[in-house]
Amino acid sequence: MLEKLTQLVNQARSELTAAQTSEQLEGWRLAYLGKKGALTLLLRNLGSLPADQRPEAGRVANEVKMTLESLYTARVEELRQGVLETELTRGALDVHLPGRPQQLGNLHISTQTLREIYAIFGRLGFDILRSPEVEDDYTNFQLLNIPQHHPARDMWSTFYTDLPGVILRTHTSPGQIYAMRKYYPQPFRVILPGKCYRYEQVSSRSEQMFYQVEAIAVGENITMSDLKGVLTYFARSMFGADRKVRLRPSYFPFTEPSAEVDIECFLCQGQGCPMCKHSGWLEILGSGMIHPQVLRNGGYDPDRYTGFALGMGPERIAILKHGITDIRYFFNNDMRFLQQFA
Ligand code: PHE
Repeated sequence: MLEKLTQLVNQARSELTAAQTSEQLEGWRLAYLGKKGALTLLLRNLGSLPADQRPEAGRVANEVKMTLESLYTARVEELRQGVLETELTRGALDVHLPGRPQQLGNLHISTQTLREIYAIFGRLGFDILRSPEVEDDYTNFQLLNIPQHHPARDMWSTFYTDLPGVILRTHTSPGQIYAMRKYYPQPFRVILPGKCYRYEQVSSRSEQMFYQVEAIAVGENITMSDLKGVLTYFARSMFGADRKVRLRPSYFPFTEPSAEVDIECFLCQGQGCPMCKHSGWLEILGSGMIHPQVLRNGGYDPDRYTGFALGMGPERIAILKHGITDIRYFFNNDMRFLQQFA
């Protein structure tokens, strides 16, 4: 009998360790501790033992019962903990937010081009000056030798405001007046970068807002060859050494003589290609010798002083340099475009 009890405990112990699910546990409980379980059956047989063995067997059987019961409770608790643990790890919510990757910005292509222009003119001794984006008609036009109602105004489609005479500047040329009035009577050379506005039909070639950089030099013996020297230096620095430069006679009310400046097409080396419309030349800016009346409006005596001025569009320069096909890309803020210039 005692032997059977020991056997029973051992077997129960190993089966209990094997039990994993609550069904298996319940099965084990019924098999050992249930009304028809192994222990109950053994206890029922106590009566058939010789009387002198009965007390001892009864005591051991009771011990076995208690042992099995506590083994059972322990195992139940153990499994419950295990289930909890897997729940916690597997089904758990990860409360950590993934880090946000740092987006590295880059300078806008217009800014990059502007800075290149600043650097080139900086090496030639030009300072940088700012002048207003909101202008009056008088400075934007009249002081630049463009009277009211003069047909030359057609060159600049203008944004007017509700305030009489107040407009958005159509070019950086009014900066010439500010510069002259600031430096008079010194000789000087400055560039005037900034935004300009034109009431244009927006297309791949024109925007309503764009940058310009004006350059102006005034002194006692400045000639057109100074202008040509600066232009050649600029074109070669910007578009590559040995770049040819061509001045084409043109007309601006505030310069006389006036010239539009072409550079030799750097795609086809002047052979002719779609980029230069098979001419071999690319137009990059307008320029000329400052008109005597404009010098006078700035305070300088045209009998003593001369000067040159030029105005370029950095977007146009970037378009040529990087083969950009549409000026609207510049200010649409499409990251796919902007990031190409990182
Ligand atoms: N202001 C002119 C334009 O916007 C360009 C220019 C500047 C021409 C200076 C001559 C001298 O078209």
